[in-house]
Amino acid sequence: MDLPCTVSIIGTGSYVPEKVLTNHDLAKLVETSDEWIHSRTGMRERHIAAADQATSDLASEAATAALADAGIEADELDLLIVATLSPDMFFPSTACFVQEKIGAKNAFCYDLGAACSGFLYALDTAKNQIASGAVKTALVIGAEKMSSFIDWEDRGTCILFGDGAGAAVLQAGGEGRGIMQSAMGSDGSLADLLWTPGGGTRNPISHEMIDQRQHYLKMQGREVFKHAVVRMAEAVTEALGKNGVSSGDIKCFIPHQANIRIIDAIAKRLGIVGRVYTNVEKYANTSSAALAIALDEAARDGTIQKGDLVAMTVFGGGFTWGANVLEWSK
Ligand code: COA
Repeated sequence: MDLPCTVSIIGTGSYVPEKVLTNHDLAKLVETSDEWIHSRTGMRERHIAAADQATSDLASEAATAALADAGIEADELDLLIVATLSPDMFFPSTACFVQEKIGAKNAFCYDLGAACSGFLYALDTAKNQIASGAVKTALVIGAEKMSSFIDWEDRGTCILFGDGAGAAVLQAGGEGRGIMQSAMGSDGSLADLLWTPGGGTRNPISHEMIDQRQHYLKMQGREVFKHAVVRMAEAVTEALGKNGVSSGDIKCFIPHQANIRIIDAIAKRLGIVGRVYTNVEKYANTSSAALAIALDEAARDGTIQKGDLVAMTVFGGGFTWGANVLEWSK
């Protein structure tokens, strides 16, 4: 049997919750200011999910939009992956809740954990499942309710994150090269620079653990910043090389939306200033949803068009990082 080798994105969607939290709102919660946050991160506001909205609710909204964009029904999906670090529950997977909500009754479903890098890792996983011939149609979602895991008393982290979800439908075939090879890497020796140390088996739920606020995200910002710049720039260079594409061929670079200064530093290193898509000002860092939302927005606002080459890159806790290249064929 000939294996289908081209896998394309046939639809995208995204969703952010209604409530907007501005830098000025944050300045009422912790000692900070709009000027401090904007000058250090490029962020102005972020969206925060309602108390009764779980990650699967955000994911299902993005999924429904992506299916409509692709023009297919949920029961045509064979595979559904949710990349998240803020699942509805430890188990079952958030993907199973999404399956039930959208009616993807023929799909097998699982979550993928690669922190903020999750959407690109999930895209690569789904692409390879399709390319192998194992499945025909896959839905990949990056979804986060970061607001549930943020310490709202820690000004070093609470200003940085937002809630949201983005999704893409993948299928075999399509014009052009589709989703090409990824370059991905991880370094577990640096896990403690960005993590949520409490609540799992290493440090189970207890009154003491909660009193110590160990169930919230902890980060050493400066260290994370340095590694993010180096790793994302390296990953893009490696992905371009693997696919025989030069930087000048790329119409649009879509990096993880963590901080405008990280994005600008990568753009300078790679000589791609002016071709980089950003929306961090509106949504802050939505972790695994960030790349997915940016891809959907870039497709919908006409930044990327049929035949364009797009390079994407991510970085997150673990550390994890990656980049890939795709030819837009919609
Ligand atoms: N408002 C005002 N002051 C703040 C603040 C806030 N929200 N957060 C921290 N500060 C203070 C610090 O306490 C520190 O004060 P001190 O010098 O008196 O100790 C000072 O600002 C500088 O802190 P520092 O952490 O060195 O600032 P920075 O320039 O590195 O910016 C980050 C901090 C978090 C914005 C930046 O390091 C960053 O973006 N890192 C990457 C984070 C990231 O992207 N994580 C996710 C990756 S997926």
